Amino acid sequence: MEVENEKKRGLIIVSNRLPLSVEEDNGSYTSNFSSGGLVTALSGLTKSIDFRWFGWPGMAIKDPEKQKTVSDVLAEKGAVGIFLDEQLAHDHYNKISNSVLWPILHYQSGVIFNEDAWKAYQRVNEIFADTVASKATSGDLIWVHDYHLMLLPFLLRERLKKQGKNCPIGFTLHTPFPAEDFWRALPVQKDLLNGLLTCDVIGFHTDEYKRNFTESCCSRGADSTKEDQVHYEGHEICVGTFVVGIDPQKFNDSMQDPEVQKRIHELEEQYEGTTVIIGVDILDYTKGLVQKLEGYDHFLKSYPDLKGKVTLIQVAIPSRKEVKEYQDLEKEISTVVGKINGEHLIATPDGTPLIYMHRSVSFTELTALYFISDICLLTSQRDGMNLVASEYVACQQNKHGVLVLSELTGAASFMSGGSVTFHPSSVQDLSDAVYKALTMNEKEKKERHENLREFITAHTRQVTALIAHCILIS
Ligand code: G6P
Repeated sequence: MEVENEKKRGLIIVSNRLPLSVEEDNGSYTSNFSSGGLVTALSGLTKSIDFRWFGWPGMAIKDPEKQKTVSDVLAEKGAVGIFLDEQLAHDHYNKISNSVLWPILHYQSGVIFNEDAWKAYQRVNEIFADTVASKATSGDLIWVHDYHLMLLPFLLRERLKKQGKNCPIGFTLHTPFPAEDFWRALPVQKDLLNGLLTCDVIGFHTDEYKRNFTESCCSRGADSTKEDQVHYEGHEICVGTFVVGIDPQKFNDSMQDPEVQKRIHELEEQYEGTTVIIGVDILDYTKGLVQKLEGYDHFLKSYPDLKGKVTLIQVAIPSRKEVKEYQDLEKEISTVVGKINGEHLIATPDGTPLIYMHRSVSFTELTALYFISDICLLTSQRDGMNLVASEYVACQQNKHGVLVLSELTGAASFMSGGSVTFHPSSVQDLSDAVYKALTMNEKEKKERHENLREFITAHTRQVTALIAHCILIS
């Protein structure tokens, strides 16, 4: 179904955080699109369909006058801000979404569930439901995203019904969904499933996550006799795998940019004769950063002849700094980085084995780094998809650099044919995979790159697939 035909309908996208960063300067506000998986995945949409994006603007604004100013600024970019009290937003985002749901969805045990924070989670979902329902028109497609808003479909359905509005509701989870046994450890798992089971379509990144979800639903009274369908309390839900992708053209265009070209030349000069391994991750325990550094240390010890000839450039983008696990991880990584550089540094100016950048990098720097790197190393212990894998491939048309990919990423379900996969908890496995990439011949590199390129160019339109499903079933 062509997206063009969908212009007649409104599309409402709902995510916890808006894809815009709002800045205040002397009482006036501006907003700019930020980068990120969801924004990347939905970027093609702006060209072909009218939509409104609802979400939290990322700052607490109490004053109604200021809220009105910010709302006007956001409206210029098709966004609707949902303003939340600071404490409420903190409890919902830090204490439940990122301290309970995120770890459980990524198979991390030992989470501490806090009843008061759970009330905040419920309350935020209600506030979102009130706002979205009041602004929706019958027939609008409402597409909810991610684990911060798992109660929202149910709450929305109640409100829409009362207001006599009929809107198809879709939901996409951008993280893994764990096996039923693990999911049951969560005391509110039934409420969350109940929240989702009023959707018309629910999307996952891989078949495994979809299967796990369906099994959890069946063990709480739903049934699934046909593939990709779940029945619950007289309602039929389509449960599908919708592969999320990037816009490869954006990376192609960027590499023609004179500023990026200049940076590429500088980096090529700086790293001449060195094999560059790139890692780009948010600073999150699910990304296996400590294991990556330990595996790299093992690699350097196993191949002492390569000392001074290999550099790992690791970009670690700061994230969720208010959550203790993230603060502890930051300290641990800094210690390991110091240890590796102390132990393996050789006495030449270019001999630094590890460059650790604990900050965000501009798009110019990012594409230049991808372009000059011989290997991209991704070590996630669990990962919904991992779009860095696709971004790296998009920048490697000339060099055919090798993607060394943890087998526990969602991306590995689709990209294992063209990459070198390994188990992220084994330093030996990681070291062998890096060595294999480093010694691969040009013919094999090219073949693998072409395999990956085919995948990234074929999977850019998750949006179209999901909307088409919603229309078919509504
Ligand atoms: C990552 C995850 C998404 C999640 C997002 C939230 O990108 O892959 O599933 O929605 O983080 O980001 P935030 O910065 O708001 O915590």
